[in-house]
Amino acid sequence: MATLPTRIKIMKKILLLATLALLATTSQAGPGEDRQKAFKQVLRSFEPMGVMLRGSGYRKDVFIKHADALKAVAAAPFSQFKPGTIDDVSRAKPAIWSEPAKWKAEQDKFLLAVDQLQKTARGDDLAAIRRDYGAVAASCKACHDSFRGPMR
Ligand code: HEC
Repeated sequence: MATLPTRIKIMKKILLLATLALLATTSQAGPGEDRQKAFKQVLRSFEPMGVMLRGSGYRKDVFIKHADALKAVAAAPFSQFKPGTIDDVSRAKPAIWSEPAKWKAEQDKFLLAVDQLQKTARGDDLAAIRRDYGAVAASCKACHDSFRGPMR
């Protein structure tokens, strides 16, 4: 029978190994999946704003929360496009790396539209809110048309 301090040492080792094993499995997701997760995070705040504007459930405070949440996550996907990262699940098109100026311009347009919506959301001009939400939606689509390929 091992002494108590020895048993504690062994327990610590087991815990450390378990943690390492967990880290190894969680980092297995590839770049395509990581990016899609980041974009789904974008969708999570973008979509409910659209639902609100199309239906009758518009509430200014809730809308502002979504607009702020969108701003908080909007830039995150774009730091994850390293060259050579089109894997089995990725829908990224090679044009991302062969047309870097256009790729950057689409990002800038999107991020500016997100900023504008965040501002407009704080006012009471629903027509302007609709217009600026529409501008964000148009920039998602413009970028997808050029840089996102079909579902795999
Ligand atoms: C500057 C370009 C760009 C902008 C702007 C952009 N996307 Fe994307 N989006 C992409 C690319 C490229 C992918 C594919 C990533 C991959 O699979 O590696 C993608 C993937 C996604 C995905 C992942 C799931 C899937 O079917 O591919 C969602 C969801 C998504 N975008 C939603 C949006 C929404 C909503 C907006 C606007 C609010 C938006 N995107 C704006 C380029 C963009």
